[in-house]
Amino acid sequence: MGADYFLARSLSRVVLVSLLLVTGAATGRALRGISHSGWRYESCDVSLGSWVVDPGYPLYGAESCPFIENEFDCLGHGRPDHDYLRYRWQPSGCNLSRFNGWDFLDRMRGKKLMFVGDSLGLNQWQSLTCMIHAAVPAAKYVLTRVGDLSVFRFPEYNAEFSFSRNALLVDIVSTPTGRALKLDSILSAKFWQGADVLIFDSWHWWLHTGRKQPWDYIIDGGKIYKDLDRMVAYEKALHTWANWVEAAVDPQKTIIFFQGISPDHSNGTYWGKPPGTSCIGETKPILFSTYPGGLHPAEVVLQKVLSEMKKPVRLLPVTTLSQLRKDGHPSLYGYGGHRAPDCSHWCLPGVPDTWNVLLYDAII
Ligand SMILES: *[C@@H]1O[C@H](CO)[C@@H](O)[C@H](O)[C@H]1NC(C)=O
Ligand SMILES: *[C@@H]1O[C@H](CO)[C@@H](O)[C@H](O)[C@H]1NC(C)=O
Repeated sequence: MGADYFLARSLSRVVLVSLLLVTGAATGRALRGISHSGWRYESCDVSLGSWVVDPGYPLYGAESCPFIENEFDCLGHGRPDHDYLRYRWQPSGCNLSRFNGWDFLDRMRGKKLMFVGDSLGLNQWQSLTCMIHAAVPAAKYVLTRVGDLSVFRFPEYNAEFSFSRNALLVDIVSTPTGRALKLDSILSAKFWQGADVLIFDSWHWWLHTGRKQPWDYIIDGGKIYKDLDRMVAYEKALHTWANWVEAAVDPQKTIIFFQGISPDHSNGTYWGKPPGTSCIGETKPILFSTYPGGLHPAEVVLQKVLSEMKKPVRLLPVTTLSQLRKDGHPSLYGYGGHRAPDCSHWCLPGVPDTWNVLLYDAII
């Protein structure tokens, strides 16, 4: 899928399909099997650590994931080096639980888990469905992809894992004068109610300009702007999202995560390569535990907004560990319609599997 595809997807909101999702939602049901408290990341910062070779990796074979998206299917497109598949994230202060797909699915009986965000959310959603399917290959699944909504169901478990494409979280509305990005409006949130676990992500689309920018002007607090500093706009939108969480989410019913910023590797100078190099040809992680390029500026904004919230929202601390994985991108082996090498998304199996290890560790 290329940029045009993502653009088209992000512009259409398929209201009817989303309504179908909400019908029969899990409101009022207790969350047995999923831990709401005891967030161990408080006692152990799992973002500090290193990548170690583990013979138990990858956690599934690409061949055991028949529904893998073209743009993440690096092995299917002939990626020749395979070392990138063999790394496990080892925090320095504790051990992460080993991912158990059967156990995850069992805990999700009768529940709905939903990713909301851009193609990095799609990347993590697909990784999770591959990891669970590979663990219970005999369990019947139904995969439907209509408009902005992708749903992966295990009917025998009445468990649903979905992805709702919504790259900016706040609203874009059509007006006679063009597409307005409304930083203070989040009407699509009504489609997220009723999920037991929500995992949000948003960042990359805030950077788009020109043809890839999905809005013509910005509205905030009754004011109209031709453009705004993108980091400022991002922070305003995150506040709108946070206000929705404070007002509408019952933490006894819904667990909320926000995926940390997923870094790209399109500028090799950050890891000591000559100017003009990208992720092409990278076959090894950075093997020290801090990224030479430093903390991602959008991550600083995200952490600030989350830290000011009263309701519990958990940051999935994927940024630092992913910054070290310059070898994890599809590069020339995504072939999702990208004319340029893809140094933003991630091969599957690959780095997002570890994001789901963090997710699993957090909810059990
Ligand atoms: C992590 O696991 C290793 C190997 O099983 C063990 O030696 C170590 O003590 C564990 N560390 C912690 C903090 O539990
Ligand atoms: C890459 O990063 C270096 C160092 O920050 C910067 O000087 C350079 O302009 C960047 N190159 C591109 C193409 O963004």
